[in-house]
Amino acid sequence: MTARFTGQAVLVTGAGSGVGRAVALAFAAEGASVAAAGRTAASLDETVALIRKEGGSAAAITADVTRSEDVGTMVRRVVELFGGLDVAVNNAGVFRGGAPIADLPEEDWRTLLDTNVTGVLLSLQAEVARMREQPTGGAIVNIASNLGAHSRIPGVAGYIATKAAVSALTRAAALDHIADGVRINAVSPGPADTAMSLLPGETDADRAHRMKGASPLGRISSTAEVAAAVLYLASRDAASVVGSDLVVDGGASA
Ligand SMILES: NC(=O)c1ccc[n+]([C@@H]2O[C@H](COP(=O)([O-])OP(=O)(O)OC[C@H]3O[C@@H](n4cnc5c(N)ncnc54)[C@H](OP(=O)(O)O)[C@@H]3O)[C@@H](O)[C@H]2O)c1
Repeated sequence: MTARFTGQAVLVTGAGSGVGRAVALAFAAEGASVAAAGRTAASLDETVALIRKEGGSAAAITADVTRSEDVGTMVRRVVELFGGLDVAVNNAGVFRGGAPIADLPEEDWRTLLDTNVTGVLLSLQAEVARMREQPTGGAIVNIASNLGAHSRIPGVAGYIATKAAVSALTRAAALDHIADGVRINAVSPGPADTAMSLLPGETDADRAHRMKGASPLGRISSTAEVAAAVLYLASRDAASVVGSDLVVDGGASA
């Protein structure tokens, strides 16, 4: 494996579990210094320990992406720790589902909007503010979903609306800031191998059985497969890829 990110400072939000942890590990394996951000110190420390065990460089930053003060401090801390901010992955997100729109609790709607939309907006603002001051600019990858701009299913309207917003925000931000040297793209995963894709009461085996029928590929995506798409978009190989939204869903929304 070539080390595409040697010497680069990479921030990953929601890095204490699931996709975010896999993304953090993948960047570290390719030479990056990784800032693992999220609300829960213990899970971030586990991610950092996994990276250091493999000889990589990482630090945990406790931050709630719904709070602008936290987000500002998070970016400043990455710069203090690693001397800059080359790549940011806005992955922190929450899922709420199981009710049609008529019965969607307002609290769920507000939590979804706060985290998945406002959290990404605040992160983008703080990250771009830093990156456009750097001669080398930077690259940002937002994690949207195949549910949203690419496909819809019943009972998940709030989540779908927020993820469609992430896809749209990505394209708008990409146009606004490519002239500043900041390249912005998104990855839209389908069901990936984390707790978020388990239906209530479902086991991993149940989910595998469900995915066999539901996915054209016949299986769930691994978090490593989602991470590979993120690393591609953040890398020099994607130097002319701007405002794209790369779907990684085994063909579900093809
Ligand atoms: N898994 C899938 O099937 C799938 C499919 C499509 C898209 N996605 C997207 O992929 C991303 C990662 O999901 P996942 O499956 O890896 O789920 P996950 O394991 O629940 O990861 C979400 C992460 O976000 C963090 N987070 C939540 N709210 C936050 C906040 N306010 N501030 C900072 N961090 C926050 C959580 O940590 P704390 O709670 O400790 O803060 C957690 O580590 C999400 O954006 C999700 O919508 C997932």
